Amino acid sequence: MRTLHVNLGERSYPIYIGQGLLDQPALLDPYIQGNSTATVTNTTVSPLYRQKLDAVVDKLNNTDIVLPDGEEYKNMDTLQHIHTEMLKTRCDRKTTLLALGGGVVGDVSGFAAATYQRGINFIQIPTTLLSMVDSSVGGKTGVNHPLGKNMIGAFHQPQSVIIDTATLNTLDDRQLSAGIAEVIKYGYINDLDFIEWLDNNMEKLLQRDPGALAYAIYRSCEHKAKIVAADEKEAGQRALLNLGHTFGHAIETGMGYGKWLHGEAIAAGMVMAAELSREHGWLNQSDVDSIKALLQKAKLPTAPPKEVDANRFTELMSIDKKVQDGVLHLVLMKSLGESFITSDFDTDALKKVLNY
Ligand SMILES: NC(=O)c1ccc[n+]([C@@H]2O[C@H](COP(=O)([O-])OP(=O)(O)OC[C@H]3O[C@@H](n4cnc5c(N)ncnc54)[C@H](O)[C@@H]3O)[C@@H](O)[C@H]2O)c1
Ligand SMILES: [Zn+2]
Repeated sequence: MRTLHVNLGERSYPIYIGQGLLDQPALLDPYIQGNSTATVTNTTVSPLYRQKLDAVVDKLNNTDIVLPDGEEYKNMDTLQHIHTEMLKTRCDRKTTLLALGGGVVGDVSGFAAATYQRGINFIQIPTTLLSMVDSSVGGKTGVNHPLGKNMIGAFHQPQSVIIDTATLNTLDDRQLSAGIAEVIKYGYINDLDFIEWLDNNMEKLLQRDPGALAYAIYRSCEHKAKIVAADEKEAGQRALLNLGHTFGHAIETGMGYGKWLHGEAIAAGMVMAAELSREHGWLNQSDVDSIKALLQKAKLPTAPPKEVDANRFTELMSIDKKVQDGVLHLVLMKSLGESFITSDFDTDALKKVLNY
């Protein structure tokens, strides 16, 4: 087992990473206060892994809440549903919420924990690669609003994050690759050595080699933990984590949610950020080609869908939440493996990239 710490003063917490951790109740026990839990999962994850928590929750007063599966349920109705179930079973301020599932379950139930009786403890037990390397760490919780994704939420850090890499064995290939997109992202933000490692170990990751997965997750969480510790509420550097995301969100929204997985859109978005960086002379074509080659190895797309044209891109990017005071900020690359946040880019160059 590997352990990391997110250093946030009194809100610090550990991340445990390893194969079969859900079979070790002693890992969870110390983070449960009081004598009650609410276990939130969904209809896909519940039959696969909920039982693994029996040894932890059976001795307590546990409320099981099983959500329907899908991003479309990451909304206020589901939040209300979680709260209703918790009130019905008299969960109190000492109840610990266990979030077992992917990023959707983690985000909405984390927000439920942030708001139930003004905030209760919760534990993240992510079961998708994306949630292991990204959404379960850092305390961003929330739901979607009809007018925008992730628009309603709160910062609420978990008590601990338990990552059992064995749960990835049931994840479908497409979801696995989408998670790898976020892993690759950390490399291009500022860790070229990691890119080299990923290039050499991509086959192992796709085959779900436990050692390779644990290492990739560890290194990703290490980056995320460091950035979050330095800038918990995204006043500055945390926005680096949005590499590829402004372009990617435009693809997701432009195609309609669900057509492209988030990680797939981020992969194409990273290529677009790289191309814009090339237009400024910061990257050369062989850098861009190397990024595309790595993403292709991970079975990810490297170009945006034709359905989203330049006009639509421009429109969608302008409403992205990274537009601050009317100025679009992008994460671009100063050199390969060295990303930075800037609003100072050439609009003609951007047009050129969008008219692919
Ligand atoms: N809070 C953050 O910082 C943050 C960061 C990145 C993404 N997110 C959010 O995360 C969400 C995406 O998360 P996701 O990619 O995990 O999607 P998801 O939660 O929808 O999970 C993807 C699919 O895999 C299924 N699944 C989960 N675990 C499984 C397993 N072990 N075996 C088989 N199937 C399994 C789910 O039921 C779902 O059908 C988005 O809502 C996004 O906004 C949040
Ligand atoms: Zn992302």
